[in-house]
Amino acid sequence: MEAERLLEEAARRIATSKHCVALTGAGISTESGIPDFRGPKGLWRKYDPEDFTLRSFLSNPAKYWRLHLEIFAGLDRAKPNPAHFALAELERLGKLKCVITQNVDGLHQKAGSRHVVELHGNLGKARCLSCGREYPMGEVEGRVAGGENPPKCSCGGLLKPTVVFFEEPLPFEAFRKAEEEALKCDLMLVVGTSAVVYPAAELPYLAKFKFRPSSPLWFSSGLGEGKTAIIEVNMEATPLTGIADLSLFGKAGKILPRLVERVRSMLE
Ligand code: APR
Repeated sequence: MEAERLLEEAARRIATSKHCVALTGAGISTESGIPDFRGPKGLWRKYDPEDFTLRSFLSNPAKYWRLHLEIFAGLDRAKPNPAHFALAELERLGKLKCVITQNVDGLHQKAGSRHVVELHGNLGKARCLSCGREYPMGEVEGRVAGGENPPKCSCGGLLKPTVVFFEEPLPFEAFRKAEEEALKCDLMLVVGTSAVVYPAAELPYLAKFKFRPSSPLWFSSGLGEGKTAIIEVNMEATPLTGIADLSLFGKAGKILPRLVERVRSMLE
């Protein structure tokens, strides 16, 4: 009964929201066969995140590209799952203004979402660090698999995936847009993120309290009583669960389609 009641209440909040946005993490893509990072079968249980810092890439690009082939090759063949399609449907219903994603798999766009902010870039391309020329990732992966490692641009420059490595700043325009949406929204649907990697993890706090937890004014400003609703969809509790108005625990691929179905019937 509790799960049904929570779903009904979450649907009601979404149906009556004026500006709902979603923040998604790797957990929304696990049902597409893409492992997350910190879950029970997460990538960081097998690989060292240190090998995915900008410093590590620049000091040994051939090592990164070897790991890239092992982990990410063929990502372009991944397909959206019902969770991605549900968010695209919520956008079509006019109840989701934007998806802010930490994912680099492009699955929200493949599912039909049109307003997507990619905070950590997209693995579909590689860019020359010298001249900025871009190449389709499939072509670059083919060259690395054929022995050209590290892959180079026609100008001789080093090619790097168009994703954000640890210790690398986020794309300015993407984060500016994400902050703008967090400040504007009256509801944030947070799906499949452990909410531990900043600055993305700050967005739900910014959404709820319209202030940053890192700000010294955080508590003295009396903004603690957040007006914006946070609805969390995750397999388990996260640091956000404490500020979430509703937490729906379970697989996003199961919960989101049922949630959107309830929203649709409430809008009819
Ligand atoms: N349904 C709902 N939640 C899920 C599912 C699922 N099917 N599968 C996994 N999860 C949850 C996990 O319980 C976990 O809380 O999704 C979350 C995934 O967390 P992480 O693996 O930490 O992924 P994410 O939060 O996106 O990581 C943020 O860290 O490593 C960097 O740049 C990388 O963008 C990534 C960032």
